[in-house]
Amino acid sequence: MKLKILGSAAGGGFPQWNCNCPNCDGIRRGTIKAQARTQSSLAISVNGDDWLLINASPDILAQIRNNPSLQPARTVRDTGIAAVLVTDAQIDHVTGLLMLRERSTPLPLYTTESVFRDLSTGFPITSILSHYCGVEHRAIPLDGSAMQIDILPGVSITAIPLRSKAPPYSPNRQAPTQGDNIGLFIKNTQSDASVFYAPGLGQPEPHVIAAMNRASTVLVDGTLWHDDEMIQLGLSAKTSQDMGHLALHGAGGMIDVLNGLDTRSPPTRKVLVHINNTNPVLREDSVERASLVANGIEVATDGMTFEL
Ligand code: MLT
Ligand code: MN
Ligand code: ZN
Repeated sequence: MKLKILGSAAGGGFPQWNCNCPNCDGIRRGTIKAQARTQSSLAISVNGDDWLLINASPDILAQIRNNPSLQPARTVRDTGIAAVLVTDAQIDHVTGLLMLRERSTPLPLYTTESVFRDLSTGFPITSILSHYCGVEHRAIPLDGSAMQIDILPGVSITAIPLRSKAPPYSPNRQAPTQGDNIGLFIKNTQSDASVFYAPGLGQPEPHVIAAMNRASTVLVDGTLWHDDEMIQLGLSAKTSQDMGHLALHGAGGMIDVLNGLDTRSPPTRKVLVHINNTNPVLREDSVERASLVANGIEVATDGMTFEL
């Protein structure tokens, strides 16, 4: 199974179009050591031709341009994206669905029931798409059962319900429902390799830690360094926790969570995804990045691939 990070930034990307934070300004001017990143998405394939897109970001067209295996190759209208799964209904994970409207057949779309409701009401993308290719909805179970996806033979995907946040346009924003946000436990059933993926993770509940402990690779929420990072920079009144993201730094933060995982052999690969443009770990020579390195934690970049 091949897994490719198409976009490693949080909503807004890096740099963000209207942002003059030290990171966004620095990368535009070329004064910091950092790489630009597109918004949160990854893709998985077994045969290298047919891919499951996990989260459809607003940057999907650039991501397709950057990844030849997703491009048309076989017939006059074609795509390597055979199906899409979204982990929540947030703008950075679903807006790319609109860009896939020129398909000639309905788009197979895996979501929880709760996310599908948001995509039919608060942000009615599926209603809009019904005037183009349409979607063929496939519900993601939340009962712990593993899903088999036809284009991924030998792979099982299990949803791990998470506490994060439904989007502001969701009726569930202030009244969370199971299925608003999920992590994924993706297993290659032919080998021992498995991935835990959660770009939005607010609380490391015991069942979430258990899933992380089962995985050989963990791709997890690295949105912000400090819980009050956006407030300190004068960019927002919201903490990381208000937005459903556990900050990296501090007691009980994501670094502590990753350090607390069971020791495995070979060691669990720990990779941060969904990095917000304000996060100091984006600067490759920052003390915060050095502290990640010291803790054996990597920061995803666009195009990073895993063979599992
Ligand atoms: C989030 O992850 O908190 C949201 O995606 C932010 C956004 O896109 O506005
Ligand atoms: Mn997001
Ligand atoms: Zn910025």
